Amino acid sequence: MTQTFSGRKAMGAIGSPVFLVTSAHEGERGIMTANMVAGISLKPPLVSVSLSNHSQTSKLAGAGGEFALNIIPASLMELAKKVGRSSGNKLDKFEEFAIETIPGEVTSCPLVKDAVTALECKIESATDIGLHTLYVARVTAYHDLNPGTPLYLFHGRYFAIGEELGTFL
Ligand SMILES: Cc1cc2nc3c(=O)[nH]c(=O)nc-3n(C[C@H](O)[C@H](O)[C@H](O)COP(=O)(O)O)c2cc1C
Repeated sequence: MTQTFSGRKAMGAIGSPVFLVTSAHEGERGIMTANMVAGISLKPPLVSVSLSNHSQTSKLAGAGGEFALNIIPASLMELAKKVGRSSGNKLDKFEEFAIETIPGEVTSCPLVKDAVTALECKIESATDIGLHTLYVARVTAYHDLNPGTPLYLFHGRYFAIGEELGTFL
């Protein structure tokens, strides 16, 4: 039988790592939590990211044509929550939450110093899909920054990626 469902329920079934997305444009910088992120091509290396049209981070990413994806360790769960429920339209989250950054190598986006991995991305297309803009972007730099177990979200609950079961093939 067909089940009734909300968008949140359907998206919740698609587990994903938790990212801090960073962007910068003309001296302003943005940071937000996001999990609607997917790898969509190996060659060229492309990602898709869906960001709210109200988000300051998204506005700066759109204006600057670039963003960075910071894959964060499970130990940064509380930071992900705080960054995800406040907006750079109202406060400087980098200052407020004492987020340390290092400069990007090929973009002007700040990278989160404590991230496990950071990917610098150049936007190839931006499509308005209603409440969000869907960005397709090329990964232009890869940084393994720190050892750590990434934070993961599944049905609205956070997990630390755990037991290894095997390899890709
Ligand atoms: C775990 C988590 C995942 C989130 N995923 C997304 C997402 O994929 N896209 C999005 O637009 N907002 C997402 N958000 C909400 C944004 O982080 C939030 O709207 C933030 O306040 C935007 O900040 P900004 O205006 O400073 O850019 C998520 C929040 C949390 C806590």
